[in-house]
Amino acid sequence: MTLVQATDLHYLSQRLTDNGPAFERAVLHGDGKIALRIEELAEGFTEDICRMKPEFLIYSGDLSYNGETESHKDLIRKLHRMETAGTKVLVIPGNHDMESPRAKTYQEEKVLPAATPTKEEFFELYRSFGYDQAESRAPDSFSYAFSAGENLVILMLDANSVHFNTLSDETLAWAEEQLKKASKVGRKVLGVTHENLFAHSDLISRNFRLENADALRKLYLKYGVHCNLSGHIHLQHIQTEDGITEAATGALSVGHLSYAVLNWDGSVLTYQKQPVSGHEDLHREAEQIFPSSSYKMARAVLEQDSSLNGEEKDRASSLFAEMNTAYFQGDPMDLSGREQELNILKSAGGQLGPFTSSIARDLNKKIDNQNAVIRL
Ligand SMILES: [Fe+2]
Repeated sequence: MTLVQATDLHYLSQRLTDNGPAFERAVLHGDGKIALRIEELAEGFTEDICRMKPEFLIYSGDLSYNGETESHKDLIRKLHRMETAGTKVLVIPGNHDMESPRAKTYQEEKVLPAATPTKEEFFELYRSFGYDQAESRAPDSFSYAFSAGENLVILMLDANSVHFNTLSDETLAWAEEQLKKASKVGRKVLGVTHENLFAHSDLISRNFRLENADALRKLYLKYGVHCNLSGHIHLQHIQTEDGITEAATGALSVGHLSYAVLNWDGSVLTYQKQPVSGHEDLHREAEQIFPSSSYKMARAVLEQDSSLNGEEKDRASSLFAEMNTAYFQGDPMDLSGREQELNILKSAGGQLGPFTSSIARDLNKKIDNQNAVIRL
């Protein structure tokens, strides 16, 4: 059985933007998403799924740019096309998807408030993507258990509709019931959350890891859940702790514009990162946005250091751009021979120094962050 996990598309309806100066400014101050070409990306991804026809598409939240009702409506049309092609789509909300004060329209120089769904409206919009056919639904949140055949349950856990970044007590109690039921009859469980179960970075795990991740980890250990899929941090990173592997899949709208393809043979789950196919010019542009914003970030900090000359600042900023991009995309990178620039970065002020050290530690571990084989 093939499953695809995609996350953090942050789709914006083209009816809400003219891609003019106001939106360009918003994107420029953003986090490196290919927001100006989001329609092409969303279409490319939809075509991939319609061609591949996996049994399931698991969509782990941040469906919309900032929770605009129109974005959800347009995205849902694409999800229906995937279902017509033969893929069951399962959705949970992220932290951007409902009751969002950041939902806006962008026209020329103007940024104006846009409609955003209430919880009830969100449910009505997405009820056919998992909720209506669920084996069981949590009493208070948009969490549900979905049967993926006789021996696999997909546990979709929502930590955003009751509190921010936190699984409610009621949802945790409900999840334990589902895990108990599954373990009694020997069914395997694949967990899915928007935020992360583990700290995937030494420095940027705050607000990315679930506030009560420890409670979920305890449940997973107690009932033998061996895999959790998540997103939110926009980082492609695979981590194993106490026999639980969490794949934090990178944002579909950043860098490699990629998703995860999973194959389940009844006992082993293989995970593989895969970029949206074709669309070379879109990839070229996406792969340039992130390094260029990383370069600017590092350069702005290094400009404060009067002991460095222009060439040193440029070389060190270029290395940071390369490292940060490799890190977020889950690519390997060899840092040998780059000690001089690395030392400049490590001793830089503000967050740049400690962040570079943290990335360097991670890259030097040489872990494969794009592929995994997990026994469920
Ligand atoms: Fe998020």
